[in-house]
Amino acid sequence: MRILLIGSGGREHAFAWKLAQDPGCSALFIAPGNAGTAECGVNVPLLPTDFAAIGDFVLREGIEMVVVGPEEPLVCGIVDYFQADAVLSRVPVIGPPKAGAQLEGSKAFAKQFMERWGIPTAPYREVCSVEEGEAFLRALLPPYVLKADGLAAGKGVLILEEYEAAVQALHRMLSGQFGEASRRVVIEQFLRGIEFSVFVLTDGQTYRVLPEAKDYKRVGEGDTGPNTGGMGAVSPVPFFDTELRRRVEERIIRPTIEGLQEEGIPYKGFIFLGLMNVGGDPYVIEYNCRMGDPETEVVFPRLQNHLTELFNAVVKGRLSEVTIETLPEAAATIVLTASGYPGNYRKGDKIDLKPQADCLYLHAGTRRDADGQLLTHGGRVLAVTSLGTDIASAVEQSLRAAEEVRFEGRYYRRDIGRDLL
Ligand code: AMP
Ligand code: GLY
Repeated sequence: MRILLIGSGGREHAFAWKLAQDPGCSALFIAPGNAGTAECGVNVPLLPTDFAAIGDFVLREGIEMVVVGPEEPLVCGIVDYFQADAVLSRVPVIGPPKAGAQLEGSKAFAKQFMERWGIPTAPYREVCSVEEGEAFLRALLPPYVLKADGLAAGKGVLILEEYEAAVQALHRMLSGQFGEASRRVVIEQFLRGIEFSVFVLTDGQTYRVLPEAKDYKRVGEGDTGPNTGGMGAVSPVPFFDTELRRRVEERIIRPTIEGLQEEGIPYKGFIFLGLMNVGGDPYVIEYNCRMGDPETEVVFPRLQNHLTELFNAVVKGRLSEVTIETLPEAAATIVLTASGYPGNYRKGDKIDLKPQADCLYLHAGTRRDADGQLLTHGGRVLAVTSLGTDIASAVEQSLRAAEEVRFEGRYYRRDIGRDLL
């Protein structure tokens, strides 16, 4: 099968790495990709949201399946674009249609959906004016959680300790701090617990749960400083035991799949559940309509099934015939970032990479210059993944390898996974 993969981060290199070993994938193209994906297939300079150019490429190259990495093309309706065209509609796209991608594209939609289907999540209020917001904030105890309704590149959630600061932040958000995305704001109760991520693949009828992961979102060690896209991840999550898994399936996954069906949304793709474990009870913090980054960098190395086996089953509505096979080893990934990230960061620095045995170097923000020199090209530059008999040994090996990757201003967290030991 000839496959086009959309995206350019560490997650997409993990997809490309997995597809490159897949006997069901005869040719792989990545749009636009990075220096790492170029080693797994052919990078093509297409914008992920330029559906017309993507459609032309698919027809010209005889692409037989499109796999979408990031949320933006899904929220903008790439699946609907393909389905609306007589010829393109024969090419399956792995990912939900626009209506399903609203689970990630609109926090208000996601909250209403969970309310309709009785899925546990923090109590909330959706507001478009400071007055409405003030009344609800007064009824809550600090800290206060404010979320821009729309996509804000992972920056649209603010957590404030003081009531006055929360009101001011609400005012700024509603006045367009995150553009159109924050014209509507979801205010919700703060939940105390431990976060973890569960990944579900669905064909719209049934579902399969992939290996779970824990992400480290704050830039600083000990979970301090600003939020990032993710500074590292580990899988498995030791506290995700049989009972918690049963509760997640019964209270969250099944009602989500049934709710989508009942609402007439044909969802064929990934659902990434950002969950909070509150004393053994799982609550949904957020839905994403795609895989996580850097979580994919630990989930896929543990997943033994070929992706084409899973995706063909999704397309044919035969996921019920598939068994997910997971390696017993633990995986850990350490993200190396450029100086300044998640604020303004440097680009174009030379990367000196001495590959260590048994480590997987998944590129996130990299490119090669005309001489083939590897350069930094994003805030998150590389994710180094290792497998080990346990989390501690996987982390240790990735840390050793991370130390050997050199570029100006390189930074990484040394405490990934430590809270789980
Ligand atoms: P989100 O983009 O919705 O995942 O929110 C970003 C981060 O804010 C999450 O990963 C959590 O750490 C935190 N967060 C969001 N909502 C809540 C909540 N209701 N209670 C506690 N923390 C939250
Ligand atoms: N690592 C969090 C995300 O992919 O949204």
